[in-house]
Amino acid sequence: MRREAPVHYDEERKTWDVFRYEDVDRVLRDHETFSADRSGSAENPSGDAGSDMAVLKTMISTDPPEHERLRGFVNERFQPGALREYRPRLGELTDKLVDGLEDAGRFDFVEEFAIPFPVTVIAELLGIPAERRDRFKEWSDALIARPEDSSEEAIQRMKRRRETAQKEMGQYFAKLLNERQAGEGDDLITLAATADELNLQEKIGFCMILLLAGNITTTNLLTNAIWCFEEQGITEAVASGEIDHKKAIEEVLRYRSPIQEVQRVAVEDVELSGQQIEAGEVVNVWVGAANRDPEVFDGPEAFRPERRPNQHLAFGKGVHYCLGAPLARLEADIALDRLLTRFDSLDADLSGLRPISEHYGLRSLPCRVS
Ligand code: HEM
Repeated sequence: MRREAPVHYDEERKTWDVFRYEDVDRVLRDHETFSADRSGSAENPSGDAGSDMAVLKTMISTDPPEHERLRGFVNERFQPGALREYRPRLGELTDKLVDGLEDAGRFDFVEEFAIPFPVTVIAELLGIPAERRDRFKEWSDALIARPEDSSEEAIQRMKRRRETAQKEMGQYFAKLLNERQAGEGDDLITLAATADELNLQEKIGFCMILLLAGNITTTNLLTNAIWCFEEQGITEAVASGEIDHKKAIEEVLRYRSPIQEVQRVAVEDVELSGQQIEAGEVVNVWVGAANRDPEVFDGPEAFRPERRPNQHLAFGKGVHYCLGAPLARLEADIALDRLLTRFDSLDADLSGLRPISEHYGLRSLPCRVS
């Protein structure tokens, strides 16, 4: 597709697909022509964004200057320098989970490490009290839940579960935001509570978007890393430092990008690689395909753990560049380093892998450690 129809109209979905690195890069940078706000798109003329987050305005679905107002107050907190002081705590959290794996001997890496680790990290950053963490995990699971099958019944069940979780979480966040208005803590809920430029709904939206954007993505990065290392037979080389694990993580991001696709809507008629896109049409921006574009990456179908340069687009580009990219990198850096150096071998079972839908990741990854 990338070569034959780099910008392609999907008759069934009635949307455009963009595959080439150059085009993906352009669409993501040009926020004046390609808006992140899909509420008024041709696909969605009623203005209902079609998701349970529709009522909440967040940075991810707004354009400048509003986008800046919704993101500006928190930018600093996610810079690598600001996150550095959190490093020891991330190490402790990793060790605690790894201790449990060591005792078990056999475990599902996804269920017992890759899911709980990022949820705990975000809960701590937000300042969710420890006694609420279990409920918090249930809510965040519900927000990203998919129907068990394609039946109408399963879809309705999933919707109800999501709506309930969103309502309960909204109420819970509203309560914490209210209690923290005095600004005494240094957690992210206190930061949002004291951000005068945001109203209450926007503050709640901020708390929720961290869960939606930060959990499943990081779970998949950790899982895809073990999957790639085991598949390539390089786990030991990464563990010993013979292969630089930070570079290897970047290659995992390129090769098995946790988010494959983001969406934009054209705000005016525009030509892209010879195709005419009309105002109001939705554009699916395939970062996963761009990350395997041979025009940019030498031997794109090969996993090269020390690839240089590696200008992948796994965290997006432009104003919506992933807020949590430095955190995700730090989490992967610490978690994989500690996990791989603790065990002589991980012995992941790569037979019968079951991918998850929508994102790039696995439902489970059975491991046996020694
Ligand atoms: C935005 C990927 C982890 C928070 C994005 C975007 C991508 C992305 C592709 C751009 C979306 C767009 O342009 O429409 C990833 C990947 C991650 C990850 C692959 C892990 C490997 C995180 C984490 C957090 C986070 C850990 C927070 C704790 C956000 C937020 C945005 C965002 C808030 C919206 C930024 C904006 O609109 O200005 N992410 N993300 N992400 N991400 Fe991440």
